[in-house]
Amino acid sequence: MPKYILTIETSCDETAAAVVTEERQVVASVVASQDELHRRFGGVVPEIASRAHVERILPVIDETLRRAGLTLGQIDAVAVANTPGLAGSLLVGLVAAKALCVAIDVPLIAVDHLQAHIYACRLAAGRDVFPCVGLIVSGGHSSLYRCAGPLDFELLGATIDDAAGEAFDKVASMLGLSYPGGPSIQKAAERGNPTAFNFPRSLLKDEDRLDFSFSGLKTAVRYTLVGPGKPDFGSLKLDPTLVSNLAASFQEAVVDCLVGKAMLCLRKTGLDTLCVGGGVAANARLRQRLEEESARAGITLHIAPLALCTDNAAMGAIAAERFQAGCFEPLDLDVYPGVIRKA
Ligand code: KG4
Ligand code: ZN
Repeated sequence: MPKYILTIETSCDETAAAVVTEERQVVASVVASQDELHRRFGGVVPEIASRAHVERILPVIDETLRRAGLTLGQIDAVAVANTPGLAGSLLVGLVAAKALCVAIDVPLIAVDHLQAHIYACRLAAGRDVFPCVGLIVSGGHSSLYRCAGPLDFELLGATIDDAAGEAFDKVASMLGLSYPGGPSIQKAAERGNPTAFNFPRSLLKDEDRLDFSFSGLKTAVRYTLVGPGKPDFGSLKLDPTLVSNLAASFQEAVVDCLVGKAMLCLRKTGLDTLCVGGGVAANARLRQRLEEESARAGITLHIAPLALCTDNAAMGAIAAERFQAGCFEPLDLDVYPGVIRKA
């Protein structure tokens, strides 16, 4: 009989659950997106996110078990993302996971949400991808990891201000494009000229650092549009060609920084495999540039498939590694909203 792990993910604004086997097969995966709840605010509102998780977590778990054709009694362990993320959101998943562990008397497994984003590449590849450099680009994080093995991650670089996804979302809002901003900017950029505006590529030339910075880029787009002060972006009448050119030039600047630092990280670590995950990894231009640069540098590239880029619980299959290693948690496990640098 296969061993089944129920994985739970509520770190930000997706309520998700999955059943994976010890052999890392995804039996069922359900994601309830909250995009429509946060759209009018142009970003995730933490209090709304955690309340929506409370309403959705049990129906999402029920639906996952139904699709898997399993009952709770057939689950052998419960895994939950307890770091990093929004404290209130993480707590909902953690409390649900603990309650299930007590109810059905199975062990609790902790999942690092960022490591899970990288593990999405391992899941899709169906084979070992370690050791590798892991690039995570999401709404809350832009980070580079040395991943020696599936349980051995070391943070080597991160954003010093905004995450790439955050910049996509905020720039989209300035341009009057809908939330989430990444897909909207990508679409607008298809018709735009990426060299129309020469936006800053912060820290890109600094070969001593593996960090990112996107707040200056965000400000540069703002100043190009309206100048300093507190403008009412909603009242701007923007020419569609200008929007497309701004979107394409902004996207190109973000992609240059992400690709440039990932390649620098590969050179510095001497590793020859790159795994890329997180919501922004769905970006078509980023995927294309990563493929070109990796081919040029002789790097084996794994980018998470689109369905595993944005938040989901299937990538919580990283819990299978812990399950096999016997890494279980006590029931007083807490949430840790910050990033764990070495695990
Ligand atoms: O990983 P994710 O689902 O949530 C976090 O853990 O943050 O990432 C969400 C982010 C959002 O900022 C969204 O705008 C961005 O991923 N995103 C994209 C694309 N699709 C989603 N960014 C650029 N291009 C895309 N196609
Ligand atoms: Zn994420």
